[in-house]
Amino acid sequence: MSTPTASQGSKILILDFGSQYTQVIARRVRESQVYSQILPFHTPASELAKEGADGIILSGGPASVYAKNAPQIDPAIFQLGIPVLGICYGMQLMGQHLGGKVEHAERREYGPGLLSADNRSRLFHGLAKKLDVWNSHGDKLTKLPRGFRVIGTTDGSPAAAIEHPKKNFYGLQFHPEVVHTPRGKDILQNFLFKVCGCAMDWTMGSFIESACAKIREQVGDQKVILGLSGGVDSSVAAALLHRAIGDQLTCIFVNNGLLRAKEAEVVQRVFVNNFHVRLKYVDASARFLRKLRGVTDPERKRKIIGIEFVRVFEEATEELKRAEKAGTKSHYRFLAQGTLYPDVIESVSISGNPAALIKSHHNVGGLPKRMKFKLVEPLRELFKDEVRQVGLQLGLPKEIVFRQPFPGPGLAVRILGQITEERLRILREADGIVVGEMKASEWYYKVWQSFAVLLPVRSVGVMGDERTYEFTVALRIVESQDGMTADWVRVPYELLARISARIINEVKGVNRVCYDISSKPPATIEWE
Ligand code: XMP
Repeated sequence: MSTPTASQGSKILILDFGSQYTQVIARRVRESQVYSQILPFHTPASELAKEGADGIILSGGPASVYAKNAPQIDPAIFQLGIPVLGICYGMQLMGQHLGGKVEHAERREYGPGLLSADNRSRLFHGLAKKLDVWNSHGDKLTKLPRGFRVIGTTDGSPAAAIEHPKKNFYGLQFHPEVVHTPRGKDILQNFLFKVCGCAMDWTMGSFIESACAKIREQVGDQKVILGLSGGVDSSVAAALLHRAIGDQLTCIFVNNGLLRAKEAEVVQRVFVNNFHVRLKYVDASARFLRKLRGVTDPERKRKIIGIEFVRVFEEATEELKRAEKAGTKSHYRFLAQGTLYPDVIESVSISGNPAALIKSHHNVGGLPKRMKFKLVEPLRELFKDEVRQVGLQLGLPKEIVFRQPFPGPGLAVRILGQITEERLRILREADGIVVGEMKASEWYYKVWQSFAVLLPVRSVGVMGDERTYEFTVALRIVESQDGMTADWVRVPYELLARISARIINEVKGVNRVCYDISSKPPATIEWE
């Protein structure tokens, strides 16, 4: 019996020329319920042909098509008989390959522009004749390739949108994928549905079905271990695997003593009481705190925690293996991980695009290869927002599905200086107040992260008639798309006042609260 998979439905391939927006294009396509996949620009046409795609989108990129090392495309792509949409650099490349001419514009077109669109073209079907668009280009097409016609102009570009309707080739000089092109999604959808004839068959319901089938096929009757952190990704992976293979899954939850208040309880309540997942709870807090005693250097803290985690996890898996009944046929052969699509996209690095070179140092490392497990990564195809939808559909509570990111080393990187039981108590209580007030004021789900940091700084205060000399808590509330850049949030003063008053009044050991007003870069989100 064949199992339904994403690749059997409609599919759009996106060739990445190093644009900061490539993933945005992929997400916009998927929001339209069409599966999309990102491939590096140098993927040969023969491989693209094997993918059975309904359309190809060529992304923008920072290079200039006539620069010496400009990223090139396999020209055979234009002979595959598959519709192609070139965006910005992608359009210029297509224009150049098919006999047009690209030149350096005297005036770089950057920012908002007004497109006069020919809505007789399928690409602009149903849209107004004037459209707000977002530009970001230095080159422009000055001679049309053979068989093409202009379907849109802006002040700066007489050929801002072009088409070859017979061959289904389209080019846009502006960026339809960004929010500053308000009708951009409609333009992309016209390409998907009117030009490529895609079906809307990428839904999280169908994903869950096909993912479960794939998991069962991969795992057979063997057992799977999953390290549950309580974060969104591992939680959704656990719920999905549980749906697929039930008790063949065992989750290991390590309490490293650096968790927020009630964290371990929430995970146990959700996964054991509600989902009836087999969960091995390992309380290793004493062990972690012993190793961290007297350590103040942030990198050393991270290293110690990383190494200790691997040890504890390995010991826990060994215990599980030992507990297997002798003579049993199914064994722990698989390790499941909540790897997401952005972690597996092969990133292309184009000179002139610094974003391509910044790779998060987080979530790397992890478990050692010698563990000899085969990997199960059921979320490899998904973006974060899709993972959340899957979580909701599987019945995970909003509290887990929309929770803010929390660093693996936990509160250790939010206690500057030494980590002691007393400091952990202070930070947990302060953090509890921050989370509580953020949720009560409905700010919690609007921001990327909101948390307290305990500084090793004491200052003088008065409480009643007494002089105090206590610690300082810094409050960090940031907005961000992906954690790579961030800005502090302009929350109402009243909210800051409430959080500050409550921390100072309720948390013994704190007499001062500061608000962190640094953006990233140059600061980071966490303090260590
Ligand atoms: P920074 O502090 O580098 O953080 O601006 C960016 C994002 O990553 C999270 N973070 C971590 N996540 N393990 C993780 O899983 C870590 O060691 C780690 N350190 C930082 C941080 O909370 C923010 O969302």
